[in-house]
Amino acid sequence: MAREKDRKAYRERELNGQELRPETLMMGYGYDPSLSEGSVKIPIFQTSTFVFRSAEEGKAFFELAYGLREQRPQEEPGLIYSRINNPDLEVLEDRLTLWDGAEDGLVFASGMAAISTTVLSFARPGDVVVYSEPIYGGTEFLLDRILPQFGIARVPFRAGVEGALEAALEEARPRGRVAMILLETPANPTNALVDIAATAKLAGRLKDGQGRRPIVAVDNTFLGPLWQQPLRHGADLVLYSLTKYVGGHSDVIAGGCLGSQELIAPVRGMRTILGTMPDPFTAWLLMRSLETLKLRMTASMKSARYVAEFLADHPKVKRVFFLGLLAEDDPQRAIYQRQCSGPGSTFSFEVHGGEAEAFRFLNALRHVKLAVSLGGTESLAEHPATMTHSDVPPEVQAKIGITPAMVRISVGVEHPEDIIADVAQALAAV
Ligand SMILES: Cc1ncc(COP(=O)(O)O)c(C=O)c1O
Repeated sequence: MAREKDRKAYRERELNGQELRPETLMMGYGYDPSLSEGSVKIPIFQTSTFVFRSAEEGKAFFELAYGLREQRPQEEPGLIYSRINNPDLEVLEDRLTLWDGAEDGLVFASGMAAISTTVLSFARPGDVVVYSEPIYGGTEFLLDRILPQFGIARVPFRAGVEGALEAALEEARPRGRVAMILLETPANPTNALVDIAATAKLAGRLKDGQGRRPIVAVDNTFLGPLWQQPLRHGADLVLYSLTKYVGGHSDVIAGGCLGSQELIAPVRGMRTILGTMPDPFTAWLLMRSLETLKLRMTASMKSARYVAEFLADHPKVKRVFFLGLLAEDDPQRAIYQRQCSGPGSTFSFEVHGGEAEAFRFLNALRHVKLAVSLGGTESLAEHPATMTHSDVPPEVQAKIGITPAMVRISVGVEHPEDIIADVAQALAAV
């Protein structure tokens, strides 16, 4: 197909034998301007459906999209209908794979659409999903309250606790086939880490009679794709809320799933039927955001370190959960050094006191916005126990370290001294 032949030239990843870096490729990878009147930027293909040049072509496109026959040599999927494929989604997916070194990828209407579509692609009634806690409240709700209604059980384990995963797998195995081990590392909101390579090794030992082993999927929203790349540590799939750092401006909701072509294929089929893909404009906005991703994530991480150090020295602050401040003898530090290349810019801290003190701090902020979400250009703060994680039962919150005195902050790209000035005056109100 001409479209794909031409796009291949725009998938060049080398220059004079030198591998181009992802930040360079974000400006044009996968897009051929000559197919769109020379437009430097990819247009928004705001269309629900695509014209076939002939009935035979339409038939061939459908055969391939619905897996009715094998792909022929040199044959690429054709454009059919925007629930199945769309140029904005395809080019975005090509670019997203670059940071994580993934073979293939898919984008979704939200992070939750990515997570639920992916879990439903691999778990069947009678199966068990083992997952790390704390985990984003929406994911917890899916695993704890929705999937059991479809006969899919779940066994959580506490991130950052030695032997907890092994114990959870022991508990899970008599209950059914462990279809997936789902990690959120660092965990929202405590930044607790799970060793991805060790998890992949354990999963490799759990083959069933048909040679299937649990899929290791990692929600990489907090540090990815810049500061942690789970596929390089043995994960099978990496999941994203692209709403956060990748979108980066608090103006889109989207998600992603990356991995091998073999594992992405069933997720693609599930996404087509559930209809959990994003719209073309969302994909276009995400491509625009990807161009500045490294700049934004680098700037906000630098500021976050200043803010974390300021908080750690403040008398009204009890504890700071910033990955860049892990103690030398903390076993989490060894995991951090092995699998992360930076601490990111979202972390929690506890004030002395409880909910009342945390609320006083949040209500006194003047520049930093009191809002959930993270990874945007603007700094945001929230109260995990009563907001993002309010659907986690209180006894589970207590067990996994989400306390009433905890505040989560996502540091943006403002001047760090302005953020610190705001945090300082808000702490004075505590
Ligand atoms: C770690 C993590 N994963 C997934 C999600 C869900 O993403 P979305 O809101 O895009 O559905 C969130 C949202 O806050 C999150 O923090």
